[in-house]
Amino acid sequence: MKGLFITFEGSEGSGKSTQVSLLAGRLYGLCLTARVLREPGGTPIGEEIRHTLKHSHANAAMTAEAELLLMNASRAQLVREFIRPALAKGEIVVCDRFYDSTTAYQGYGRELHLPTVKTVIDLAVGDTRPDLTLLLVVPAQISEERLRSRQSTLPFIRDRIEEADHEFFERVAQGYEKIAAAEPQRVRKVDAAGDVETVRREIWREVEKILPPGRVGA
Ligand code: TMP
Repeated sequence: MKGLFITFEGSEGSGKSTQVSLLAGRLYGLCLTARVLREPGGTPIGEEIRHTLKHSHANAAMTAEAELLLMNASRAQLVREFIRPALAKGEIVVCDRFYDSTTAYQGYGRELHLPTVKTVIDLAVGDTRPDLTLLLVVPAQISEERLRSRQSTLPFIRDRIEEADHEFFERVAQGYEKIAAAEPQRVRKVDAAGDVETVRREIWREVEKILPPGRVGA
């Protein structure tokens, strides 16, 4: 039995990580085996790459091309080390970000050549593609406010990508809209501006459509 692969996408401050945990809890509650992963990272090698990408003090001069390749080096490892084996065992894999993040951030945000971005992603993932992608959408103002409040509680943790300017995040948001428009069956947009419980319910409505029959719960 092939498993299910669900990914979460969205801008900074869209509440992805909270919703990933809530979904995983719900799946465990139904006695379904769910494996929660994140990108960049998720493997020992990937977590080292994540540090280089986000927090290392040596990363200030990182080029967009190096960023693209590092994101996909982390992904290539995660796909082969965890995602494919889990799916082959029939598990549900829930991943906080996957290749749509690369299209949105490195493609649209950093304005790298989109066909090249796609080629790099194809090498990293092969035929391992999400069955469902939940795109959490929040207005830029809410996203920026949530980001600012997070930064004020974590003042010592530098995140190179979050330091980008407002126009960069505008392009990322527009990129996500284009991705959703191109693949409306796979990519489901979820209004994430509301309270956590409302968003959780909307996400569950999408997930239960693809769960094996008899496992949907209330
Ligand atoms: P997060 O785990 O807090 O979402 O941080 C991950 C950061 O990395 C976030 O700023 C989005 C960015 N990112 C990319 O730019 N490209 C990618 O392919 C992925 C997976 C993440």
